[in-house]
Amino acid sequence: MNILAVESSCDETAVAIVKDGRYVLTDCIASQVELHRVYGGVVPEIASRKHIEAIYALADQALENANLSRKDIDAIAVTYAPGLIGAVLVGVNFAKAAALAMNKPLIPVHHIRGHIAANYLAYPELKPPFLCLMVSGGHTMIVDVQDYTKMEILGTTLDDAAGESFDKVARVLGMPYPGGAALDKATKLGDETKYVLPRSKPGQNPLDMSFSGLKTATLNLIHHADQVGEKLDVNSLCAAFSAAISDTLVPRVVQAMKQTGRNKLTVAGGVAANSRIRADVLSAAKELGAEVYMPPLSLCGDNAAMIGSQAYYEFLAGNLADMSLNAYATKSILGEAL
Ligand code: KG4
Ligand code: ZN
Repeated sequence: MNILAVESSCDETAVAIVKDGRYVLTDCIASQVELHRVYGGVVPEIASRKHIEAIYALADQALENANLSRKDIDAIAVTYAPGLIGAVLVGVNFAKAAALAMNKPLIPVHHIRGHIAANYLAYPELKPPFLCLMVSGGHTMIVDVQDYTKMEILGTTLDDAAGESFDKVARVLGMPYPGGAALDKATKLGDETKYVLPRSKPGQNPLDMSFSGLKTATLNLIHHADQVGEKLDVNSLCAAFSAAISDTLVPRVVQAMKQTGRNKLTVAGGVAANSRIRADVLSAAKELGAEVYMPPLSLCGDNAAMIGSQAYYEFLAGNLADMSLNAYATKSILGEAL
C-alpha cells in the first residue's frame, strides 16, 4: 500500500511516499529554517505562507522521485495535530483536496505518533509493545506504546519541553535558531562539572518532569556572568546543561522500563538527536539488558516519512477521516475521536 504523506505542522514542508508503513520510496523536505532564523524562532504567519508556496511542487516532486503516478497512490495521510494552527491547516487542506480529487482514503495522523513511528522506518523488524522517550521542540513524554495505535503516557513535562529549553538557552548564548544542535556540538569541547545546574523533581508522578527551573537557573547564570563581566566557558555550560536535561530524562525512562517490564526502548523527536541523551539511553539500556532502537538523526527531526509510516497502522485500525477533517493546535496523543 503506497501512502502519500504530508507534514506541515511547523517550519518544514514535507511530502513522502511510504510503502506498507515501512519502506520510504521518497521523502521530500523543504525547510524554512533559514527564513525564520533572522527572527530567532518560527513566525507562524510566514510559516503558513511558505507551506502554501512549497506544498504542490513538493507533492509533484515526490511522485517524480518515486517514479510513480497518481494512480499508484492508495491513500493520502496528513498531520492534523498538534502544531502551529495555520501551518497544520495548509497540510490538512492540501490532503483533503488531494484525497477528494484522487478519490482515495484520507488518513489523519497525530504528529507525535508520527515521531514514534520513525522507529518503524529505521528498524523494519520493530514491533510494539515498547517504551518510547519522545522528546521534541514542543513535547517531552515517556510513552508506553502498547500497540501501533494504542498508547499510554507514563510521564510528561509539567512545563517546558526539553527542545524548547535547549533552544532558549542556545538563543541567549547567541547560537542561531534552532539552537539545540549547535548547543549539542559545543558540549564536545566542554567540562560538564564546571557548572552546577539543578535537576527538578516535580509533582506526584515520579515519571513527570520539569525543565523550567533548569532553564531559569541557566539563564540567570548567563545574565549574572554578563553583569559582573565574567567570561563564561560556553562549551562547559552547554555540557552541564545537556547533562542536566539527560539526567532528568534517562533515570525516569529506566524507572518506566522497570515499572512496565518492557524490554524494548526507543527514542523519537528532534531532541533524540542529542548526543548526550543518546549515549545515556544506550548505556541505560545496556544496564537493563533491554533492546534499544534509535532512529538516525535524519528521522528524528520533522519529516513526512514518519507520518506515512504511522498512517499505515492508523489505516489498518480504521482511523480514517472525511472532508470534515479539521486541524488542531493541541491534541492528545491518545487518539480520542476526531
Ligand atoms: O521534532 P522536531 O524536529 O520538531 C518538533 O516537533 O518540535 O524537534 C525540534 C527540536 C528543536 O528544539 C531543536 O533544537 C531540537 O529538536 N534538536 C536538538 C538537537 N537537534 C535538534 N536538541 C538537542 N540536541 C540536538 N542535537
Ligand atoms: Zn516534530
